[in-house]
Amino acid sequence: MSSARAAGRTCCGATLGSELDLAPRARRAWWSRETVAVVTGANRGIGHALAARLAEHGLTVVLTARDGARGEAAAAPLRARGLAVAFRRLDVSDAASVAEFADWLRDTVGGLDILVNNAAVSFNEIDTNSVEHAETVLRTNFYGAKMLTEALLPLFRESPATSRILNISSQLGLLNKVSDPSLKALLLDEETLTEAAVDAMVSRFLAQVKDGTWDAQGWPKVWTDYSVSKLALNAYSRLLARRLQARGARVSVNCFCPGFTRTDMTRGWGKRTAEEVADVGARLALLPPAELPTGAFFKWCTPQLYSKL
Ligand SMILES: NC(=O)c1ccc[n+]([C@@H]2O[C@H](COP(=O)([O-])OP(=O)(O)OC[C@H]3O[C@@H](n4cnc5c(N)ncnc54)[C@H](OP(=O)(O)O)[C@@H]3O)[C@@H](O)[C@H]2O)c1
Repeated sequence: MSSARAAGRTCCGATLGSELDLAPRARRAWWSRETVAVVTGANRGIGHALAARLAEHGLTVVLTARDGARGEAAAAPLRARGLAVAFRRLDVSDAASVAEFADWLRDTVGGLDILVNNAAVSFNEIDTNSVEHAETVLRTNFYGAKMLTEALLPLFRESPATSRILNISSQLGLLNKVSDPSLKALLLDEETLTEAAVDAMVSRFLAQVKDGTWDAQGWPKVWTDYSVSKLALNAYSRLLARRLQARGARVSVNCFCPGFTRTDMTRGWGKRTAEEVADVGARLALLPPAELPTGAFFKWCTPQLYSKL
């Protein structure tokens, strides 16, 4: 659907095809220093900029990184500026690390209000498409984000302001990148799609990588392993949003694609800086409760109609 045709229609509580007005003047802060935001992969790139921006907005930020020294080195300058930033080690691809982090968050911080699943890997150069590291990519970008989310779900404070999960995703994982009609149909049918089916889709992809048949199966053509990880993350996010809504939980789940951004992941190529992305990402994470959708996919600050892409 063109953005012109989509404009004005709503989906997931967001108006499609038109940019959200994220101007700070229009916002009244619903959060305080008591509001806790956890950001993964926050020692560099978009995650670091986003952690800094959320702390500058006045929240308490738990900056996490898989490496203790790199994480502490990233958190210390923010603390030196008087920002409320704690560092904790967290490798999202490691079940023991995730469990240890969840215990620490429960026992030491008492819970959280915002989770930003940002940590991710890609091993491809801009114009290459190797799947050599597909298992690591899927284990980090999809299973890692999912494992952490499920571990932290019971710790959301479900405040009156509504707790939120923002998954930093990519338009490379949107349905218009898939050419296999049966896969498209599976992902489109939201009434019958299940989390098990999404896991099975990922297992099927990894099996095809192992037997060398993945290339002709209709998967996204660009950065295929990374795109499949984001395809799965986008589908899981929508299913989780529905699951939480159905049980009346006050936790929203949305995805945000920052666009081509100059970070290590793109070897410094891109049209935006991590700081520009952090500015918009933080405002999406801090949307006023009355304007907060769930199950939405934001391409920059424009909600997309997932099913008609
Ligand atoms: N840059 C873009 O153009 C672009 C576009 C669309 C979406 N995105 C998304 O934006 C997010 C941030 O990407 P970026 O561009 O900032 O990438 P980046 O500069 O490569 O940073 C990735 C971060 O993730 C961390 N990480 C990797 N594996 C981890 C693990 N197992 N556990 C915990 N942390 C881990 C890295 O830690 P180490 O330092 O230890 O490696 C690093 O802090 C990702 O979700 C990416 O997919 C980026």
